Amino acid sequence: MAYDFETVIDRTSKNSAKWTLMKRITGLDDLIPLWVADMDFPSCFEVIEALKRRADHGVFGYTLEPESYYRAVIDWMKRRHGWKIRRGWMLSTPGVVPSLNLALLAYSQPGDRVIIQPPVYYPFKESILKVRRRVAENPLILDGDRYTMDFDQLEKLIDGRTRLIILCSPHNPVARVWFKEELEPLVEICLRHNIIILSDEIHHDLILKGNRHIPTASLSKEADSITVTFTSATKTFNLAGLGCSLVIASDKQLRDRYRSTLQSIWTGIANALSAVATETAYRYGESWLEQVLEYVQGNYDFLVSHLAERLPEARVFPLEGTYLAWVDLRSLGMSDEELKQRILRRGRVWFDDGPMFGTGGEGFQRINLACPRRTLNKALEAMVQVLR
Ligand SMILES: Cc1ncc(COP(=O)(O)O)c(C=O)c1O
Repeated sequence: MAYDFETVIDRTSKNSAKWTLMKRITGLDDLIPLWVADMDFPSCFEVIEALKRRADHGVFGYTLEPESYYRAVIDWMKRRHGWKIRRGWMLSTPGVVPSLNLALLAYSQPGDRVIIQPPVYYPFKESILKVRRRVAENPLILDGDRYTMDFDQLEKLIDGRTRLIILCSPHNPVARVWFKEELEPLVEICLRHNIIILSDEIHHDLILKGNRHIPTASLSKEADSITVTFTSATKTFNLAGLGCSLVIASDKQLRDRYRSTLQSIWTGIANALSAVATETAYRYGESWLEQVLEYVQGNYDFLVSHLAERLPEARVFPLEGTYLAWVDLRSLGMSDEELKQRILRRGRVWFDDGPMFGTGGEGFQRINLACPRRTLNKALEAMVQVLR
C-alpha cells in the first residue's frame, strides 16, 4: 500500500503540542511549527485499525502488556537491528524521558556526575540537574562535515564521582548514526572507569540510506554488561501521544536496580492502547516505515537544494538518522537572538533554536522534516526571505 504524506492534516483540533503550544511558548499563534520531534503524518493504517478495534471494546481498565507484545519487540530488534534480546531483559515504562530520569535515580546519588555530549537532546541536562546530579559535558567535535565524540576529553573528564553517560544513538540534534568504530572506544573507556552507559536509542529506526544503527549493547558481551538501553516505537511510528517505552538490560544487577526504582513509583500497569499500537506497528508497519524514510530523505534533499540555491550561507549537515536536520547559520554573522527575531517573529516559522541543545548549538537551527513537502517549502521560503 502506498501511503500519502503530502496531505496537510489539521492537528490544531486535536491539541497537538507541536501546533497548539505556540501561543503559550512564543506568544504567537500563526507559526509554521517545525520544532518538536513528532511527525505531521498519520501513523500506519494497521495501527490505526488496531486502535479502533481496541477502542470498540469500550473497556479501558487496568491492563497488562501481552506476551505477544514482547515477542513483537524481540522479533523487530532481531530483524531490523540484528540484536538478539530476551523477554526477561525488558521492563515496560511510560516514556523514554521519564525512564532516563528513573535511571539517574537508580544508578547514582545526589552530587554524582553524569556525562552528556552536547549539542544534545536538552532534557538530558535538565533531568540530571532536576535530580541534583552534576552535568559533565564532553562536547562533540566537528570534524569537517561530521560530528565525532571526543575520546581524549572524555578520558580527562571522568573522576571518582562520575557514574553514568547518557549516549544519544542516533544523536539528536546532529543526526549522526554512530559507527561501530566510534561506539567501541566509548565502551572501552566506560568499562575501564566503571561508567554505566544509558543508551537512548529512541531514533533507532529512523536511519537514512547507507547508514546502519548498531545497538550499543549488541557490540560485545562487555558492552552489554554495562549498557541500559532506552527504546520505543513512538518516534518511529509517530505514537508519542500514547506514551510507551522499554528499558532493556541483560545484566541482572543493573536490571534489578532499575526494577526496584521503577516499582517505587508504581508504574506496573500498561497503557491499554500503546501496547496494541506498538505490537501492531512492529508486526505490520515495516512498509510504512520504509515509505516514511524515503519521504524524509526526499524532504532532506529538497532542503539541501533549496538552501544551496536560495541561502548558500546555510550549511546543512548530513542526515544519517532521525528526521531532524541540523543547519549551521553561523556564517550569516547573526546572534541567536537576531536569528530568532527574524525566523520566528518575522518569518513566522518555528524551528528549535540551536542553543537549546547546549554547548555547540549557538548559531544553529534544528528543522523537523517529518511534514508534507509543501509545509517545508513554505517554511524554508519564509526563512530565506528574512535571512537574505
Ligand atoms: C533522544 C530523544 N530521547 C527521548 C525523546 C522523547 O521520548 P519520550 O517521548 O518517550 O519521553 C526524544 C524526543 O524527541 C528524543 O529525541
